[in-house]
Amino acid sequence: MKIDIDLLKEFERTIDTKQPEKGEVPIKILGYGEISLVFEIVGDPEHLAYKRIPIFDNEEQVERFIGAYNEYCRILKEDVGYNLPEHDVVWFRDDKENIQLYCVQKKVSSDSVCNNVIHQVSDKEVETLLLLAMREMKKVWSYSKNNEVIELGLDGQISNFAIINYDINNPKVFEDSKLLYFDTSTPFLRINGEEAMDFVLLLKSAPRFLRGILKAVYLEETVNRYYDWRKVSIDLVANFFKEQREELVPRLIEIINDFFKEEASEFEILPLNFEEIEKYYKSDASMWSLFQKVRKFDRFIKTKILRKQYPFYLPGKIER
Ligand SMILES: Nc1ncnc2c1ncn2[C@@H]1O[C@H](COP(=O)(O)OP(=O)(O)O)[C@@H](O)[C@H]1O
Ligand SMILES: [Mg+2]
Repeated sequence: MKIDIDLLKEFERTIDTKQPEKGEVPIKILGYGEISLVFEIVGDPEHLAYKRIPIFDNEEQVERFIGAYNEYCRILKEDVGYNLPEHDVVWFRDDKENIQLYCVQKKVSSDSVCNNVIHQVSDKEVETLLLLAMREMKKVWSYSKNNEVIELGLDGQISNFAIINYDINNPKVFEDSKLLYFDTSTPFLRINGEEAMDFVLLLKSAPRFLRGILKAVYLEETVNRYYDWRKVSIDLVANFFKEQREELVPRLIEIINDFFKEEASEFEILPLNFEEIEKYYKSDASMWSLFQKVRKFDRFIKTKILRKQYPFYLPGKIER
């Protein structure tokens, strides 16, 4: 994979994390999560997606992360049988000696990313898509069930899958459509019960005064969620509230419950119900919006009062 580090250094030199598309290196945002900004460089002949992860203070942290990331991808691809985009990691010290790290992937077409797909196809096809996502997840949980040393987790949100060979001019989801999974930059990988990734680093996206309490109260529970198939499935269906397709939720719950009963009975997972998903969605949405407000305040203090840099990109108001 050909990655132009000099161009990334130039990008870092002129980045404005408040308006990352307005820097001197022209980029287009493809997406963002709690910590990462995902973008492409306009005109890039290599068609790469860059995930900027600004959480590292020293090389030891970087090395542990890269080890975890590569191993997670390797296991998903070779042992679990996932389709992943080709990937790489690059990092360097910028002009201020801060570590900048990017997970780089081949870009997939945005149309084929499943949170877009669900707005382009019939309800029946959305149901098929959900089933395909559940089958992908089953591969992960079966792997862990049969492995005494390694346990895998997954972020099963619909926005983390894309459909391979999706044709936007004839948008369709088939029973035998193949999914690609690309949200690998948070490696949920436990080896003999030890996390390969140091999740405490993720707290760097929270204001300093909150980190202690978040670590004490939320971190472990939040990370554990991703290893729990039932909870990951709740998150997957709850996405449909966010995507403003609430009317589909009852039917999707039925599909998941049938799946657990028929195709994954050996996991003995209790059925999901509408109330818990609605409750989860509401509390997740209000936590997230509170967190964003606190981060905006933190950014204000850092940049306007202390005149320091703020490394994270905070998305604008999210439609829900
Ligand atoms: N390889 C890629 N090609 C195109 N778009 C991508 C790619 N990777 C991520 N994206 C976009 O960025 C969003 C966030 O990326 P993701 O890897 O899911 O990270 P996060 O952990 O922040 O959710 C995705 O939902 C998708 O819209
Ligand atoms: Mg994601």
